[in-house]
Amino acid sequence: MSDSELPLEEIPGAYGLPFFGAIRDRLDYFYFQGRDEFFRDRMRKYRSTVFRSNMPPGPFISSNPKVVVLLDAASFPVLFDTSKVEKWNVLDGTYMPSTALTGGYRACAFLDPSEPKHAELKRWFLSLLAARRDVCIPTLRSCLSDLFVDLEDELSSKGKASFNSLNDKMSFNFVFELLCGQKPSSTILGTKGAAMFDQWIALQLAPIMSLGFNNMVLNFLEDVILHTFPLPPFLAKSSYKKLYDAYSEHASSILDEAERLGLDRDEACHNLVFLAGFNAYGGMKATLPILIKWVGSAGEELHRRLAREIRSTVASEGGVTLAALDKMSLTKSVVYEALRIDPPVPYQYGKARRDVVVRSHDAAFRIRKGEMVFGYQPFATKDPRVFDDPEEFVGDRFVGEGEKLLRYVYWSNGRETDGPTAGNKQCAGKDLVLNVCRVVLVELFLRYDTFDAGCESLPVGSSVTFRSLTKATSC
Ligand code: HEM
Repeated sequence: MSDSELPLEEIPGAYGLPFFGAIRDRLDYFYFQGRDEFFRDRMRKYRSTVFRSNMPPGPFISSNPKVVVLLDAASFPVLFDTSKVEKWNVLDGTYMPSTALTGGYRACAFLDPSEPKHAELKRWFLSLLAARRDVCIPTLRSCLSDLFVDLEDELSSKGKASFNSLNDKMSFNFVFELLCGQKPSSTILGTKGAAMFDQWIALQLAPIMSLGFNNMVLNFLEDVILHTFPLPPFLAKSSYKKLYDAYSEHASSILDEAERLGLDRDEACHNLVFLAGFNAYGGMKATLPILIKWVGSAGEELHRRLAREIRSTVASEGGVTLAALDKMSLTKSVVYEALRIDPPVPYQYGKARRDVVVRSHDAAFRIRKGEMVFGYQPFATKDPRVFDDPEEFVGDRFVGEGEKLLRYVYWSNGRETDGPTAGNKQCAGKDLVLNVCRVVLVELFLRYDTFDAGCESLPVGSSVTFRSLTKATSC
């Protein structure tokens, strides 16, 4: 059946009683069912990948928790179409954290493209990232070199090494050095920058986070403390001020450029801190453990193939360059596959600008103007109607003919075949993120033949512990 012939159906599902329906859905989501089962159960019950539900946090943090859920690869991309959905204050979902956390300003990621400030800020971001293209790889390699030294030390002294804490430190240092041209350790931040950002990010995401206690009393307390009222922004005030001061002092050339473009310096600096802390550091904090987790679980055969590709390409290209990275088709595919199977930012929201018709594989649905649309990306990018063995990590899925499937990889809030512009809401760091992930694999397999790691779920993302690293036998 062609798209236009799909029958128009009522959107199934219900919001339940006012207040109680939202609380019930919140408890199911966090405690009784868990995230994936929450969606799977309703998808089965309504026999549809499009249905109505409440999304956390609900009362008293979000004024309206009602959403239309999208769970398949066909309907999901409506969220990228800013002519159909409005992206005003929807970064975190049905609530907006206090602007006291961002100097009283709404950061770029909260702005809708119809607001002129969005294009001004995003253009500035895209140009400052483009200007740093050449220093990106050497800066990252030097930060990764420190990470691997620490990882080996910890492994030899304790028999295991936590990747996450070392990754946090590496990610913070890399982003600061990329934007400020110097190491944060020589500034007022010392070695505390990552922890300061963690505290500030946690205040923003607390309403949609769970610490995963295995105890009903603790879960009840957590629900009251994290999900019922916003935590007061003053808890992060002093950390945030130090971060702001450090960026204000050391990123002066970037801020001069912002002023030249007509932006207010104070607003630009708060936006820069948001870009560095929430977007870039927060993104790397979530993404790199996911990458290591899946590559680790794929085992020695994939490690051998990656090492072979990486070492031969680096040798033939004369180093780790952007051109060399571009020639590593298996390495690129492995990164896409990790972002497909476990998208680091699993949620996307948008409010219907007007009445829109959304099509799943089987039916069409009318969403009314003003209704909130919510996409749960891990289901959309594991859609069995698009991907064979969607739950399997297939390292070479996107090699050769497989590249055609890249249009169904959505991690960046857009198709992998599209790019960020001042007019859309796709991640401004898309290319940087892909290169960072590729360089992490390159450094890993230049140094080691294989590794073994265990992993556990965290409130946001995964925790990865290295159990062994086998040094490279040839390089
Ligand atoms: C490392 C992993 C990263 C992931 C997984 C990621 C993912 C995303 C996603 C999903 C969005 C859209 C959010 C939404 O509106 O629903 C986004 C937006 C954005 N990201 Fe990233 N990001 C990452 C890193 C970065 C980096 C390194 C930068 C820049 C240095 C960056 C800059 C931005 C900006 C500025 C936006 C807002 C775009 C706009 O408002 O038009 N991100 N990112």
